[in-house]
Amino acid sequence: MSALLERLGVERPVVQAGMGGGISRHELGAAVSEAGGLGTIAGSGREQIAAEVAAAKRLTGKPVAVNVLLPFARRDWWPEAALAEVVVTFWGAPKRRVARTWLHQCGSVEEAQAAHAAGADGVIVQGVEAGGHVRGTTPALELLERTRAALGPDYPVLLSGGIADRADVSRALESGADAAVAGTRFLLADESRAHGAYRRRVLDANRTLLTTLFGAGWPNAPHRVVPNAATDAALRPDGSIPASMRVAARLSGIGVRYLPAGTIGRLVAVQRPGGLLPTPAPPADDGPEALVDSGALYAGETALRIDDVRPAAELVAALTP
Ligand SMILES: Cc1cc2nc3c(=O)[nH]c(=O)nc-3n(C[C@H](O)[C@H](O)[C@H](O)COP(=O)(O)O)c2cc1C
Repeated sequence: MSALLERLGVERPVVQAGMGGGISRHELGAAVSEAGGLGTIAGSGREQIAAEVAAAKRLTGKPVAVNVLLPFARRDWWPEAALAEVVVTFWGAPKRRVARTWLHQCGSVEEAQAAHAAGADGVIVQGVEAGGHVRGTTPALELLERTRAALGPDYPVLLSGGIADRADVSRALESGADAAVAGTRFLLADESRAHGAYRRRVLDANRTLLTTLFGAGWPNAPHRVVPNAATDAALRPDGSIPASMRVAARLSGIGVRYLPAGTIGRLVAVQRPGGLLPTPAPPADDGPEALVDSGALYAGETALRIDDVRPAAELVAALTP
């Protein structure tokens, strides 16, 4: 058992990845933690983080994590995120913002070394097979091996990407990971807040796409999705996106910091397949259903191997070697 997880009081080497856009909230995070894994709430906004952590704490006395995407983080989010036992950051220069246990998800050995140097308590190495935004460019096991070699046997390294069943977790642990992190497997849990039609598309998918299509406000950030009307309408046969959309996304990137809050929300409301500025918002069960066709259906390559939706606690048990 990993010393880091033991210290935290996490009983099983199974971590549920933070999934933004309202997909992983307190119901999922608390259910995973209560079952002995480490559940993660995706944080977005000071009040949302505070409310979600409080709601999770009403459901479980076990440790939970909050995930913060660095391109969107505001200073006043950190004190609320630090109410969780673990803070996981992603996509940006690693820097310690909380006194709590801090993990940074990385896509390269260099990024893992930077996180280590910045004082991270551990890293999550993400493989290219992962769902959602993808920083990794090599298979997860390959990045794990190289990161272990660079950071030594004792530094906590968790693996994400390609985790769908117990054999995947065993392989990750035998290869030197402290724990396995799964997103797509928990997207397909009863407690995830993904729209029902989104889950069906993931269950039925026979391929995934790595693209930068849904880049409004977050350009040049590759993400893995399953196909829908939006990808059919926009992607060229070679998988690239039209230059007009690339330029629009680049300009919109400025908006995240300088336009009034809610800009992305307004873009989401008018989003149509084939539109110029598809946003990163996925279809949540309380969001616009139109996003099932016009939005990002994030999922990893494991989507092709998963064929059921199950309670999170059952999944934690089924994933534990
Ligand atoms: C629906 C979805 C949303 C995601 N959103 C986030 C996010 O908000 N923050 C983050 O750090 N990672 C996010 N990820 C990536 C995960 O942290 C993790 O790297 C990935 O899920 C691992 O691959 P898997 O989906 O094949 O298990 C997301 C993944 C999925 C599937």
